Amino acid sequence: MHDFTKLTDSFWDNEYKNNRAWHDTVAPAMPWFGTALKYKAASRILDIGCGCGRNSLYLGKMGFSVTGVDVNSTGLQQAGELVKLHNLANVSFVRGSAAHIPFRNDFFDGIVCLFTLNILSGEQRKQAILEMQRVLNKEGKLCLAEYVNEDLSEEGVTALLEHFTILGSWYNEVPLLAGSSPPLKTLCIIAELRKDRTSGD
Ligand SMILES: C[S@@+](CC[C@H](N)C(=O)[O-])C[C@H]1O[C@@H](n2cnc3c(N)ncnc32)[C@H](O)[C@@H]1O
Repeated sequence: MHDFTKLTDSFWDNEYKNNRAWHDTVAPAMPWFGTALKYKAASRILDIGCGCGRNSLYLGKMGFSVTGVDVNSTGLQQAGELVKLHNLANVSFVRGSAAHIPFRNDFFDGIVCLFTLNILSGEQRKQAILEMQRVLNKEGKLCLAEYVNEDLSEEGVTALLEHFTILGSWYNEVPLLAGSSPPLKTLCIIAELRKDRTSGD
């Protein structure tokens, strides 16, 4: 079993410096999610746990206004350099935690949170979901992709999303982490805030 909650900041430094997959690939859900949001004329997307920015960059090239948030400075520095290289004024990055998103309520039309929930502790996960609920607007869409295992199962992810309606979900395999063989099983979910929520939920 991989216990992702034990991965340290220096582990991510090393991944972003040495594992090209984080730079040369995009999460499989991104083309689909970007297209679906475009139909809804969404504009602002938050990429929680953006790493070195591969998915932010992809969505930025589709024309969205993207903000990536991460705690890892190596990833953020590389992400900033890529954005400059591609001259994308609509993509920016801030250092911050998924548990304290530095934006006002209802600010975003879309949130992507890819392979990040399962590396947070149980308390941080709950806090991160509360923050997603707070900053996503009523029409907004959430795209989650997570490695699922004993620590964070499909049921565990679904339980965390109690205030969301799941619009679709599927599995695929993503061979991203160095040395992870066979590829890790990944659950991808598209969701929106439940329409029957009352304020405070
Ligand atoms: C598996 S990587 C995913 C990177 C990116 N989503 C992607 O698909 O390329 C997980 C990222 O979560 C970040 N992270 C860890 N704890 C975090 C926290 N509390 N808030 C925001 N990001 C965090 C790590 O620094 C790392 O960059």
